[in-house]
Amino acid sequence: MNPTLTSLISGALVACTLTGCGGGDNTQTTVVQPTADTVADDKASALLAQMTLDEKIQLVHGNGFGNSPVGGAGWIPGIARLGIPELYTADSAAGVGVTGKNVTPMPAPIALAASWDPKLAFEYGETIAKELRALGFYEGLGGGVNLAREPRNGRNFEYMGEDPVLAGELVAQRTIGTHSQKVVATLKHYALNDQEVNRFTSNSEVDERTMRELYLLPFEIGVKQGEPGNVMCSYNLVNGLHACQNPYLLTDVLKKEWGFKGKVQSDWFLALTDTVQAATAGLDEEQAGSPDDSAGIFGWPTFFNQKLKTAVQSGSVPLSRLNDMVFRKLRTLARVGILESPPKAGGTIDQAAGSAAALKFAQQSMVLLKNTASTGSTSKPLPLNAGSVRSIVVIGGHADVAVLSGGGSASVAPRDGDAVPCLKPGTVVGNLNLFNACATWYKSSPLDAIRAKAPTATVTYFDGNDAVAAATAAAAADVAIVFGTQWQTEDADLSNLSLPDAVTDPANQSYDQNALIAAVAAKAKQTVVVLETGTAVTMPWVGNVNSVLEAWYPGVKGGQAIADVLFGDVNPSGKLPQTFPVREADLPQTAISKTSLNVQYLEGLAMGYRWFDARQITPLFPFGHGLSYTDFSYSGIQTSMDAAGNLTVNFTLKNIGGRAGAEVAQVYAGLPSNSGEPPKRLVGWQKISLAAGASQAVSLTIKAERLSVWDTSKHQWQLPSGSFTFYVGGSSRDNQSLVAFSGK
Ligand code: BGC
Repeated sequence: MNPTLTSLISGALVACTLTGCGGGDNTQTTVVQPTADTVADDKASALLAQMTLDEKIQLVHGNGFGNSPVGGAGWIPGIARLGIPELYTADSAAGVGVTGKNVTPMPAPIALAASWDPKLAFEYGETIAKELRALGFYEGLGGGVNLAREPRNGRNFEYMGEDPVLAGELVAQRTIGTHSQKVVATLKHYALNDQEVNRFTSNSEVDERTMRELYLLPFEIGVKQGEPGNVMCSYNLVNGLHACQNPYLLTDVLKKEWGFKGKVQSDWFLALTDTVQAATAGLDEEQAGSPDDSAGIFGWPTFFNQKLKTAVQSGSVPLSRLNDMVFRKLRTLARVGILESPPKAGGTIDQAAGSAAALKFAQQSMVLLKNTASTGSTSKPLPLNAGSVRSIVVIGGHADVAVLSGGGSASVAPRDGDAVPCLKPGTVVGNLNLFNACATWYKSSPLDAIRAKAPTATVTYFDGNDAVAAATAAAAADVAIVFGTQWQTEDADLSNLSLPDAVTDPANQSYDQNALIAAVAAKAKQTVVVLETGTAVTMPWVGNVNSVLEAWYPGVKGGQAIADVLFGDVNPSGKLPQTFPVREADLPQTAISKTSLNVQYLEGLAMGYRWFDARQITPLFPFGHGLSYTDFSYSGIQTSMDAAGNLTVNFTLKNIGGRAGAEVAQVYAGLPSNSGEPPKRLVGWQKISLAAGASQAVSLTIKAERLSVWDTSKHQWQLPSGSFTFYVGGSSRDNQSLVAFSGK
């Protein structure tokens, strides 16, 4: 049970019959135990009954952007006479979105997804929520689960990859972790907000089955398992209607079908066009809103202040709908514990605890993509041996001082200033001038951490601007470690998946990274590439380097975590949450159109690895891939399905290598051939730590719904009949075993 629920029901009546409790009376009166939900409902109803129309309106719209007394993204003034506190909200994708408060910049959510670890996702939500609460925020706007349909999407680093079940399970745990600290969690951006180009005006055109099986599924899992207090609807249109004015998405699916009891909040600007449409479709809160609808915000219109009041007074929005909006907010505040215990601004951040958590998340999320010995050698370069390595050349990526982070509303301010000056301050990318193009670099030096690991080695640094000098030095060293970086931000998609150069990212790159890596690889005895990226990159040099470590945006302790993995103090255990293609031409669409506002999801169900499998295209690195410094074997794989279609998978996992490590054992299902599905889908996994030589019997239970397809005639999930095939192994393409199973 989550601690929030525990605290809400403590003090409640214990269920028992009076007789059973020792009463002398024979009457069998059952006392119904109030649940957290009914307690919250009762509190909300009692408050709602006392509210005036103006107070209700006050609670359903934000008060503007940038004018909150405690910072953050928005606020709703409280109602003191009813004990409703000020409601401050802040971004929190990878840490709290405020400046000057010493908050902890965590590794990006894509890194969390690469850990494949639900427990870590809980801790991630919990740790960020502690900092939100300490600064007075009742709500965090983390929890992005738009799928990586388009790897060039500028916000991929904020999300959890391309698989709906992986993203859904992790965001559910993140949500429960957030609520455990009495902070309201958000799932966003609902829905099909999968690119930044034309983000306020694009219309995602998608068929019902694809929408339900892929893009809505992480939200369905997140809502049902995590019970978030808040779902943020997105800027874009879905099949012709604004997502925030879409009755199918907000009311029919989210509230009625999935039973969502929290509130629906609009994304910040330009998400609405009409008060009545938004209100009747199911929107419960407008953000950032404005103190005056006739003024709007930044010249853009707002809809849920005076305009909503007028609409309610005229009857075009029923009072019952306004009451429902307010009720949803109040019961969320009650259920999560905000009413009992409102957060207070002015608390201190436990920086040591935040840093320790950030280090752990980074260590658990790095993905070792490649690790091969040089020709003529039998030893792989990684892990580096601190005792025997004599000379290391570290090159590029500002690895002497910093690690990279993502931009936009998911950016988290550095505690101690930006480590790397912007090359072209004020450069603006994207469609709006909301954000400039300067990346944030945290002062966490991989170079210093590498030096500390190998105190007897000569470790030199080249900044990468002179590829010839770097390659010459690399030729004389035992190993060259080249850092490659790719900055991503909200409001701008990447023009391509190459590591950026001075042309594609003039504010943050001064040289051609691919040319540098190729030059070093041509001369070095051993080349290790460390990537700090928010999404896939292409690697034209991959055949000439020994090792590639994907570190993502690794957060405030990233330099340390990178060195820990390079030297084997931490055995890498991350797995790719999205496919890395060889080239853009292998993707369903070769570019994101800037001119067409209709984004057609023509690939249908064949998205991400499903596309590569269906088209039999070999990716650069497949979904689920990630190496370790040890090896694992799978044996004794058995599956069985009960009458309801629930699957049990049993197997033995053994660590057959020489050191302790963790494996993410993955189960994929191939659905019956007449079901119209791509070749396989992820249905379950478990991350298992094993000492060298140890083995463990693993039993995974997979619910029938994971094996189901969306029936568009009945509008419901349906378990197909026919023969299923299951795959168990360490990646979507590296099947240790294949089990053919005949379904019902
Ligand atoms: C983003 C949201 C964010 C909000 C507040 C919007 O532009 O799309 O993800 O939470 O701004 O900063």
